[in-house]
Amino acid sequence: MLDELQPIAAATDLSVAPEYRRPIAIVGAGAIVDVAHLPAYRRAGLDVRGIFDLDHERAKTVAKTHGIPTVHGSLEELLASDVDVVDVAVPANVQPGIVHQAITAGKHLLCQKPFAEDLTTARHMVTAAENAGTKIAVNQQMRFEEGIAAAIAMAKAGWLGEVTTFSFDVNIVTDFSSWEWLAKREKLEVWYHSIHYLDSVRALLGNPVRAYAVGSRTPGQKVTGETRTMTTLSFANGTNAILHVNHENRTGDAHAAYRIDGSQGSVKGTIGLLYDYPHGRPDTLTVNSAEHTDGWLNYPVTRRWIPDAFAGPMGSLLRAIATDGEPETSGRDNLGTLALVEALYRSMDSGDAQRPEESAP
Ligand SMILES: NC(=O)c1ccc[n+]([C@@H]2O[C@H](COP(=O)([O-])OP(=O)(O)OC[C@H]3O[C@@H](n4cnc5c(N)ncnc54)[C@H](O)[C@@H]3O)[C@@H](O)[C@H]2O)c1
Repeated sequence: MLDELQPIAAATDLSVAPEYRRPIAIVGAGAIVDVAHLPAYRRAGLDVRGIFDLDHERAKTVAKTHGIPTVHGSLEELLASDVDVVDVAVPANVQPGIVHQAITAGKHLLCQKPFAEDLTTARHMVTAAENAGTKIAVNQQMRFEEGIAAAIAMAKAGWLGEVTTFSFDVNIVTDFSSWEWLAKREKLEVWYHSIHYLDSVRALLGNPVRAYAVGSRTPGQKVTGETRTMTTLSFANGTNAILHVNHENRTGDAHAAYRIDGSQGSVKGTIGLLYDYPHGRPDTLTVNSAEHTDGWLNYPVTRRWIPDAFAGPMGSLLRAIATDGEPETSGRDNLGTLALVEALYRSMDSGDAQRPEESAP
């Protein structure tokens, strides 16, 4: 059995070989950099040389906490510094301006999700980077979350036979109002949360040909945008995905689960982080494969989405730079995720299923 599990465990490996590591500078010193990017990079042995934030005091505090040697006084100063890789972690509306400046300076980039607030802006960034010969990865790190990565690896290795359905069932409390810039957004849940599930589904199933969603609000919610969504996705080969996500659980029984079903088995897991964000509890993963297990087998998940999975997109970017390859969550790949998000909002507005733009052959 251990022999059979080894390739699955290998597919979740987040280590970054020393020869791939390059100096990194970070733009943005907000909550996610403090609790996720920097702890994950430290564990992976990565070399963060500098940081810049419009809020200089915040940058100084984060630099001190995580031992970053240089706090830059401006973006220009950071871009002139001796780093190859810039990690951008600011709100999506200001990300493209920074990205274009960094591309002009010849830097490779890890961008936060959402990559942009619309597909057209994202395409411009991808084209600019490709023309300049720099790499862009997007921080869609849920694919690298150990439980999700193992489940996807099992499905890809045929443990479940022919995959029929990928589903997420999430009913939690998320205080979106703690991010001031999110509280007033009309379009919220899919752009800022379900985008993770959509990207994970795409990691296994590719781009759907049809997407349908409804989005709603709950009486008494503090934020403007939709906080409940139900989404169905149809793929050309007949596979389906379904997402049911509610952020206004009023009964204290948080639940965050996913499942991949196939003709020869199923794998199901829970996302511990979402039970008490951002502290969380350990994830669970259980697989039942006609060929590989004797009934349900618990797969031990030893890492967490935050911070561990954040080493994934950066590691993939560093590998792509060293080997002149494509990061797994490249900017170009992310166009498929953004096209899907846009299709889902068109669906909510129209009441009809939509074809995501990037799904065209
Ligand atoms: N990948 C994930 O799972 C994940 C999780 C949380 C947040 N995020 C994303 O990360 C980004 C930051 O989120 P956060 O929670 O850290 O937000 P935050 O509000 O805590 O921090 C944002 C920081 O960006 C700085 N900033 C804004 N504009 C800037 C600019 N032009 N130049 C330099 N600094 C600038 C602000 O001063 C602030 O310190 C957002 O895009 C968010 O969507 C991603």
